[in-house]
Amino acid sequence: MSMVLAEDRDCLKAIALMGGIREPVFISSQTLGEVLETSPQTASRRLKALEGQRFITRAINPDGQHISVTKEGEDELRREFAEYCRLFSHEGGHYSLPGVVINGLGEGRYYMSLEPYKKQFLRHLGFEPYPGTLNLRLSGADIPTRKKLDALTWVVVHGFSAEGRTFGEVRCLPCRIQDIPCGIVVPGRSHYPEDIVEVIAPVGLRDALGVKEGDKAVIEVAYD
Ligand code: CDP
Repeated sequence: MSMVLAEDRDCLKAIALMGGIREPVFISSQTLGEVLETSPQTASRRLKALEGQRFITRAINPDGQHISVTKEGEDELRREFAEYCRLFSHEGGHYSLPGVVINGLGEGRYYMSLEPYKKQFLRHLGFEPYPGTLNLRLSGADIPTRKKLDALTWVVVHGFSAEGRTFGEVRCLPCRIQDIPCGIVVPGRSHYPEDIVEVIAPVGLRDALGVKEGDKAVIEVAYD
């Protein structure tokens, strides 16, 4: 569970609603206090707390401040969104996402063999991933289903630095292909082709499923 206080999260949400996710919003503590129905001092304290937790960044001027919601801040709001989805969507079910096996750039093997990633996947998914990612291309008709997955609860695998490089955050959604437990992985980089899905598994999926480039595989994602 996140440690953010409810009143701080309300403040974060208010900034996001003013447009702070897409671009910095210019606002004074006075105005923010009015929006939150609290004093400017309290509004200012909440901003400090949000900044301390890296949910926002600020550029402070004498007459106000430009506030931006960070990626971490957006993730915090999405966690709450996912909770409401669980509350109000029809309970239980699963999405089927068919795709065609394609060859990637051969980078998955490298990333999946890095110890800090491996350890986190083991902890969150219950298996150590086979070194690589199976890349599937979705047909246009299935892209809306892929987008719905964004509202489910994803695991956050943290980035790290090693050998003078930084390795980014990865989001992961537990799923299955047939009876094999898998995880959809999405690198933190903002631009990722929407018709490609990368899957990790405890085993080599090409062998286990008997598939090769051009063959079909169906990802199943259960939700509750
Ligand atoms: O980028 P590319 O998919 O070509 O390669 P990779 O991610 O380095 O993975 C190495 C090979 O293992 C590729 O042929 C993947 O399709 C395959 N693979 C697999 O069969 N099962 C997995 N669980 C992960 C990767």
